[in-house]
Amino acid sequence: MEKRDSFGSKFGVLVAMAGSAVGLGNLWRFPYLVGENGGAIFIIIYLVFVFLIGLPLMINEFVIGRRSQANVFGAFKTLCKDKSSLWGKVGIISVLCSLTILSFYCVVGGWTIDYLFRSISLQFTADTNYEQMFAESSAHVFRPLISTCIFLFFTALVVVLGVKKGIEKYSKIMMPLLILMIIAISIRSMLLSGAKEGIDFLFKPDFSKLTGQTVMAALGQAFFSLSIGCGTIITYASYVKKEEHIINDSFYTVVADFSFALLAGLAIMPAVFAFNTSPSEGPGLVYITLPHIFAQIPAGGMLAIIFFFILLFAALTSSISLLEVVVAFLIEEFHLKRTSAVILSVAVSAGLGVLCSLSMGLLKEWTIAGFTIFDCLDKLSANILLPLGGLLFVLFAGWKIPKADYYDELSNSGTVHVKPWLMKSIRFIIKYVAPVVILVILIVGLLPKQ
Ligand code: TRP
Repeated sequence: MEKRDSFGSKFGVLVAMAGSAVGLGNLWRFPYLVGENGGAIFIIIYLVFVFLIGLPLMINEFVIGRRSQANVFGAFKTLCKDKSSLWGKVGIISVLCSLTILSFYCVVGGWTIDYLFRSISLQFTADTNYEQMFAESSAHVFRPLISTCIFLFFTALVVVLGVKKGIEKYSKIMMPLLILMIIAISIRSMLLSGAKEGIDFLFKPDFSKLTGQTVMAALGQAFFSLSIGCGTIITYASYVKKEEHIINDSFYTVVADFSFALLAGLAIMPAVFAFNTSPSEGPGLVYITLPHIFAQIPAGGMLAIIFFFILLFAALTSSISLLEVVVAFLIEEFHLKRTSAVILSVAVSAGLGVLCSLSMGLLKEWTIAGFTIFDCLDKLSANILLPLGGLLFVLFAGWKIPKADYYDELSNSGTVHVKPWLMKSIRFIIKYVAPVVILVILIVGLLPKQ
């Protein structure tokens, strides 16, 4: 079997973690959910979940990953003392969940490549029909399939190179660039005349919009955006050296991810309102509304290129983290070579991705409970599979990993000083608060609408 790779530096760990967290979740999913779920009220609930549940869960995955030094399946196998217990097999759910997310993620990644191409070839003009353009990019039979495969190919290229030479090196270049670009775009958007209404939409809550579904969508988005609940953080943390400060790294990642989501909101909503378009457009928001807006503002063509460039590269740093979960599993559990593991996993995701993509057009009629395959995978994975995965992780860590071991990992065997009250609070949230909150929200969210 290949020797285990690891991250080379602290900065490398941070950018790789932030790279995984910041992605289409922030730039595509967050704005459209904010639009669909009433604006500020959604953001407030999301903020509470990110820090109350998301941060402790990220720390928890860090503990499981670094302590076991193994892929997500191996992690449970290693840490579970009782070899006959089902807990030792729980990791397989995470591998399947990552594969599921990757298969619709690569479709949206494909749309992004298509739109980058369209922006470079100056197709965003004042009289283009953007609904039709989005339909061509997403519901057409072949066009989206080609772009989906190109996206998967780029993802595979980075993962084949491994952790230090691929993932870490690539994230170090992309992440700082991304931050600069999104700040530039949000400033431009906030300077539009009529932007104020969009800013109000983001920051002035309307409590009448609050429903069980809003709460569930906010929890699901917290999981999705932070990359928690399906072993991505466990896998990355297994490449992290023992000296790394788990709590600090998790905190910075969460803050970076939340700030990025807010910046994405500030880039998109003021423009949506300034041009009188609807914020509740759904998954097409970024692809239908934005190009329309870019076509109408000075230097919009240039901004469009920058925006889709950001979207593509943010998506790639995330999709490589999803692919790495599956690849690490195949390498360590089945002793495959990295390249073969990548080819196999990409082939499976491409197969599922094709179905997903076709469900936007040709297979539109194939629905489960009224949802197309694409919607099912998107909503099912974020709102149900990820919270369920997170629930299993906290139950395992809280009730199966001894307290002393947990504290030992949090404090790097006592070599970094972590305040005792902080360790106790984290353990308390993991053991009692998070399981109850997640369960209650899952139950409330799944109740039929009143
Ligand atoms: N967090 C990424 C985003 O916001 C997507 C992602 C990467 C992800 N790894 C994950 C989502 C693991 C859920 C679970 O785009």
